[in-house]
Amino acid sequence: MTADRSDWDIVSSVGLTALVVTAARALEDGRPDALVHDPWAARLVEAAQPPDPLPTGPGSPGADAPAWRTLADLLAVRSRFLDEAVRSARRDGVDQVVVLAAGLDVRAQRLEELAGSDVYEIDQPAVLDFKDDVLAGGDTNGDTAGARRHRVGTDLREDWPTALRDAGFDERRPALWLAEGLLPYLPADAEADLFEQVTALSAPGSQVATEYLVDVDTLLATPPLASASGVLGVDFGELWSREPREEPAERLPRLGWETEVETVGDAATRYGRDLGTDGDASVGRHSRLVLARRR
Ligand SMILES: C[S@@+](CC[C@H](N)C(=O)[O-])C[C@H]1O[C@@H](n2cnc3c(N)ncnc32)[C@H](O)[C@@H]1O
Repeated sequence: MTADRSDWDIVSSVGLTALVVTAARALEDGRPDALVHDPWAARLVEAAQPPDPLPTGPGSPGADAPAWRTLADLLAVRSRFLDEAVRSARRDGVDQVVVLAAGLDVRAQRLEELAGSDVYEIDQPAVLDFKDDVLAGGDTNGDTAGARRHRVGTDLREDWPTALRDAGFDERRPALWLAEGLLPYLPADAEADLFEQVTALSAPGSQVATEYLVDVDTLLATPPLASASGVLGVDFGELWSREPREEPAERLPRLGWETEVETVGDAATRYGRDLGTDGDASVGRHSRLVLARRR
């Protein structure tokens, strides 16, 4: 991560990535066969007034560009995978969810399965402030679907476990950890530290749902993404770390987690989303989804 905290806002650098993925969710939400519904996405994108307009639905100018279609497909599949992880963890009785780098994630508002649970959202304060302001101004006043939502405005490179405990997190109870759209931005050491810290805070029965990229350079050279920075308004190639690292599929078992991994392409097939035969299909091979459980 190259951004300086003092520069961190929702319309530039890493903060802007939260808005871009939200625009992709707005595109998905407008599909009749949507894999995830996010009725807040369009409102959040509109409110941010990014310097280069972002789509807020399938009819927006530029929404048909291959880069947007690819991004929306990939993010829909990964968000659906994490939504399913939430539902499954709730069925298992897990009642604490920690959303690492929550960005403009509104699972606390949109997933009724979270009713009665504690949802901790960790991100930079400026990002959470923006989300809170927009949600508070809407019809629902930002109400959750019955979840107790806790803001943890901090930097994941600092002592976030203390901030999380201070917000009420109970490490004696199992938790579900979600890390969506985070790992590629972390330097290798920060990713290693993050999984060590998550493991130290995880009671038996805890679960992790996340996704990661393999072979970032090949992924970025794939046709829909090679042109992406001009179209999406964010240069993922500049923001993603290339430092070699242990894959979560190996690290988590080493740290004592029972781990299942699949490609985004395979998950797309399970969910009935055809990634086609061009760029999307190959992009789907470079992105992996992980579900891990601590016994
Ligand atoms: C691509 S967005 C993903 C947001 C959200 N998980 C989603 O999928 O909609 C990346 C998020 O990571 C956050 N982030 C990146 N590095 C961070 C750090 N060091 N501390 C806190 N948040 C960070 C950014 O502010 C941004 O909201």
